[in-house]
Amino acid sequence: MAQATAVIGGTGLYALVDGEARTIATPYGAASVTAGVLEGRDVVFLARHGSGHSTPPHRIDARANAWALASLGVRALVSTAAVGSLRAELPPMSFALADQLLDRTWGRADTFFDGDDGLVRHLPFAEPFCPELRAIARAALPDAAPRATVAVIQGPRFSTAAESALLRAQGADLVNMTLCPEVALAAELGIGTATICVVTDTDAGTSDEDPDRVTAELVFRRLDEARPRLVDAIARIVAAIPDGYAPRELMDRTAIDAVLARPVRA
Ligand code: ADE
Repeated sequence: MAQATAVIGGTGLYALVDGEARTIATPYGAASVTAGVLEGRDVVFLARHGSGHSTPPHRIDARANAWALASLGVRALVSTAAVGSLRAELPPMSFALADQLLDRTWGRADTFFDGDDGLVRHLPFAEPFCPELRAIARAALPDAAPRATVAVIQGPRFSTAAESALLRAQGADLVNMTLCPEVALAAELGIGTATICVVTDTDAGTSDEDPDRVTAELVFRRLDEARPRLVDAIARIVAAIPDGYAPRELMDRTAIDAVLARPVRA
């Protein structure tokens, strides 16, 4: 399949297209995808947490997922993320397009270039999301906040009130557990990402009484409510990606091809 668009569904989005479920063997383990058609376009869907939300954020094999998508010829990735809000201007149930990341994760396999096989590369990552794909997404979703800085915490627990205040003071607008290392790994393999953030809560909340203070139950409930709008948003973006889309080159093809030539394991 040439030039398919990938969609990675975050919390609350476990299926998107009718099609054949496939297990792709990668050098990092297996990845499960469903290949189908959305808005007349070839789409490869991957549920980030597994189809039954069985994989917690710190156990997601983002390398297997990115490698599987790249091996299928994917260049454009539209992903979704449940997020807590650190700003009153981004209330629960609003959508925002991520444009910056603050990586607060640790211990995750976060590069294809760890030097084991002598292949060393340093990804230019000032703009973690693909500017062209973000522009397409912005035009397709005029009601979404056009930019947001997302702090990515390790999880699986949510932040303390002090951690939440610190992230806000450091410039974060939203908080999530999964966009790192996913966006960087995609970029290392020549895949550009745009992410639709769905605000589900106010993180540690504005007070003890805040009804929007995060709980897992609240996140799942809000995502259930938002799902029809989210699916519509994904469809609008996918439909607007031009046939010849190619992300800005952040990594050289030789390096990408060398990673994709690594032996797979089941
Ligand atoms: N996902 C949804 N809400 C979140 C929050 N408050 N913190 C981290 N991840 C989240």
